[in-house]
Amino acid sequence: MNRDIHNIIAREYERKQKVSNDTTQQRKAELYSKIPRLMDIDNQISFIGLKYNRLILSSNGSSFNLLTELEQNIKRLSDEKKEILAANDISMDFFKPQYECDKCGDTGYIIDSSGSQRCSCYKQQIITHLFARSNISHNGNEAFENFNELLYPDEVDQAKYGISVSPRENIGIIKNACLDFIGNIDNPEHKNLFFSGRTGVGKTFLSLCIARELLNQGRTVLYLTAPILFDIITGHKMIAFKDDNYNDDKYQSIFNVELLIIDDLGTETLSDSRYAELLNILNTRQSNSSITTSKTIISTNLGPKKLFELYTERITSRIMGHFDRLVLAGKDIRSLKA
Ligand SMILES: Nc1ncnc2c1ncn2[C@@H]1O[C@H](COP(=O)(O)OP(=O)(O)O)[C@@H](O)[C@H]1O
Ligand SMILES: [Mg+2]
Ligand SMILES: [Zn+2]
Repeated sequence: MNRDIHNIIAREYERKQKVSNDTTQQRKAELYSKIPRLMDIDNQISFIGLKYNRLILSSNGSSFNLLTELEQNIKRLSDEKKEILAANDISMDFFKPQYECDKCGDTGYIIDSSGSQRCSCYKQQIITHLFARSNISHNGNEAFENFNELLYPDEVDQAKYGISVSPRENIGIIKNACLDFIGNIDNPEHKNLFFSGRTGVGKTFLSLCIARELLNQGRTVLYLTAPILFDIITGHKMIAFKDDNYNDDKYQSIFNVELLIIDDLGTETLSDSRYAELLNILNTRQSNSSITTSKTIISTNLGPKKLFELYTERITSRIMGHFDRLVLAGKDIRSLKA
């Protein structure tokens, strides 16, 4: 998935360079047709320049006078060019390509004493592509800086909220667990996250906060609701059945992406093959996690009992084993806001 993105970005840089070179050539051609003397001068300068270089390469010191003469010629022509440009109110920059990024000249790389490094514009490109592939909007409001604890009640009411602390204290603990998860994203020992809780208590919001944070770090993330996840799998199987070489980016990334978010588990239509699919995904991601970053967030409205019923003991115990279970509680924030 990442290599793919680098190929796309490399092609974009090539395109940008071609565009700026073409534009420069075109501007030059327009100027030449308006002021033909300039073309004359430029041609002479490059002709003399060539001659000069050849002479220097082959010279044994005897052509000093000729070199000086050529230098003077170039100087004379350059001066004339400058005068013409000044008279026509054209700056010398006119001949330079206009790059989108002046730092790297749209190559994506900066070469300095320590070698070649990716330019900041390249890093930005990666993030833009990662967002585009993640199913997450680049400028959505789900971000930790918009996280508002005050939306969670401050009262302790076990009967009402099902927890022994106030929803506000609870969400504070959960938020810290999420930040901990982000900090340990590469740690294979660190558990995945399993959010449960009623509709509107902030499960999707929280998983998107985590996603955004990791995308901004240049990580690969994929957000899918359970029904869409299963649609992708079904679609893949149908096409892969007909075409062995079928390459399905989205399907592959369910297994390869650094963070997979499965939202709304339990809202999909259930079937035996789907249990098997989900189990396969979780198994594969779990065994990948010892080699590479491979974390999963699952969220569901279902209580553990209901989940257990729907997803059989086998999968439920697997989910619980490798997942840190966080129960969100509070009022429905969506209706609170409305
Ligand atoms: N911690 C929070 N800070 C600010 N707004 C929140 C927070 N949690 C949820 N919201 C908002 O509340 C609404 C419901 O949250 P959502 O994540 O969709 O709930 P769920 O996925 O649990 O059903 C959304 O509009 C969301 O933006
Ligand atoms: Mg949700
Ligand atoms: Zn750049």
